[in-house]
Amino acid sequence: MTFRDKPFSQACENNKAPIFALLAPVLQDKTHLLEIGSGTGQHAAWFAPQLPHLIWQTSDLSENHAGILRWLEAYPSTNLRAPIELNVAQTGWPDATIDAVYTANTAHIMAWQEVQAMFQLVSSNLSANGIFCLYGPMKYAGEHSSESNRIFDLRLREGFAHRGIRDFHEINQLALDGDLILLDDHAMPANNRLLIWQKST
Ligand SMILES: C[S@@+](CC[C@H](N)C(=O)[O-])C[C@H]1O[C@@H](n2cnc3c(N)ncnc32)[C@H](O)[C@@H]1O
Repeated sequence: MTFRDKPFSQACENNKAPIFALLAPVLQDKTHLLEIGSGTGQHAAWFAPQLPHLIWQTSDLSENHAGILRWLEAYPSTNLRAPIELNVAQTGWPDATIDAVYTANTAHIMAWQEVQAMFQLVSSNLSANGIFCLYGPMKYAGEHSSESNRIFDLRLREGFAHRGIRDFHEINQLALDGDLILLDDHAMPANNRLLIWQKST
């Protein structure tokens, strides 16, 4: 695989297999997945061909669309859709029935109000029994789970005071407020978590 002329995230290369191992089983009976904050497009390009039974809809702020498209052009898959503009605080839900949402490494980049908006958007639009999967670092009871996460959090906030590693309980409260029931909180490599909720009927 060549990464020339495409945006590249080493973290995506490192985390894609462990994430996919946990994502695939919960997506077995899903048909239409929306990815929020597709970033480089690497996850979509690698996951979608392995999930041929569902449509994988990429999305992000428009500034990232060209890069995502380059990954999709290099690794085309019939079930992979070009990015749509989706800013969780500003844009509406796509005109489609979505029964799965995936987002990676977005909650610590978004402002807290945007994280709240993302949960409101997902909980109001996800189908009954739909799945919401969120990957990234988390604090527990206000404490970082590792020294590397503490340093990462400090760096995130330098010049971007609205960013920061979120607390699991505050995130899960947003989910509960939207009738999203926690199914799993998986420990992942490099001190990350994969949280999986299901929309109640
Ligand atoms: C650190 S990147 C993660 C990208 C990719 N998911 C990954 O795991 O590498 C954060 C992503 O969140 C997106 N993002 C930030 N604010 C957003 C918002 N308000 N609505 C939607 N996406 C947003 C950024 O454009 C960026 O693609």
